Amino acid sequence: MRIGVLTAGGDCPGLNAVIRSVVHRAVVGHGDEVIGFEDGFKGLLDGYYRPLDINAVSGILARGGTILGSARMERARLHEAAENAQELAKRYGIDALIPIGGEGTLTAARMLSDAGMPVVGVPKTIDNDISSTDRTFGFDTAVMVATEAIDRLKTTAESHQRVMVVEVMGRHAGWIALESGMAGGAHGICLPERPFEVDALVKMVEERFSRGKKFAVVCVAEGAHPAEGSMPYEKGAIDQYGHERFAGIGNRLAVELERRLGKEARPVILGHVQRGGTPTAYDRVLATRFGWHAVEAVHRGDFGNMTALRGTDIVMAPLAHAVTELKTVPEERMYEAESVF
Ligand code: F6P
Repeated sequence: MRIGVLTAGGDCPGLNAVIRSVVHRAVVGHGDEVIGFEDGFKGLLDGYYRPLDINAVSGILARGGTILGSARMERARLHEAAENAQELAKRYGIDALIPIGGEGTLTAARMLSDAGMPVVGVPKTIDNDISSTDRTFGFDTAVMVATEAIDRLKTTAESHQRVMVVEVMGRHAGWIALESGMAGGAHGICLPERPFEVDALVKMVEERFSRGKKFAVVCVAEGAHPAEGSMPYEKGAIDQYGHERFAGIGNRLAVELERRLGKEARPVILGHVQRGGTPTAYDRVLATRFGWHAVEAVHRGDFGNMTALRGTDIVMAPLAHAVTELKTVPEERMYEAESVF
């Protein structure tokens, strides 16, 4: 068999581990040939690809980013890919495509699959917001990075009697904020799923100071919004990929808290630090298992599906289900961490 692989959307720790695993299982396990398209769907549409043999993936297990390059792509070009799906498969002589990516990539994968290309998806995102899988690789690494940042910021906040507002990634789902906030012992957590009350944060900080704890850390997801009338905050415009441009909730919240509290409040925006660098052991293992199972699915002809984690098992889940709605933080998970909301 000849299998194509590509990585699309934002990069994510563990992408290289999947590529390596696909090549190992396909080439060594089945005697297949693997080609890697460069820069996501751009490579597929514009004909940029290279053969991937065992040597090409040597030494990449622990490397962040993606050796194939990645890119976001305008919807119009993705439709172009879907319209030419069968012709594209023929052009490259591929029997299957394994696209590795988040919600946008898996939606494109579904379009290609519906249009007749044999596709097995592999979900990735540090945001952990893909339905049908308990976890995505990259999330564990992002939570670890954010937790370490909170730990470090606590010591400087305490030394300077400051409020630290740590902004983490998470557009529509607050998993990184929830888990790094819990692990780091943040005193306030603000998620996109539930508008937050600035008054409640002010009360929390004042209560801490009144009992001698002269610092506080608030962990806020980039997509979190204040409750109506709580503080001025406008929604950002939509970019060419259909994503909301954020107005910088970390900065804005720090300014508002400083104004209301009369205490120093500093914003720290973690940004792409959460996505860069080497994956944790957990993410390397999950990514490797996803790669292995994706190749097995190709050989079974199990197309139109993606690999998914259920408990400790890897199963196949229909792409159609995975992309219909995002997996956001449920009420009960917020309830468990309620003391910090
Ligand atoms: O979807 C993953 C993600 O890291 C989001 O958490 C974040 O909002 C977005 O990508 C940032 O994308 P870009 O690198 O294109 O700005």
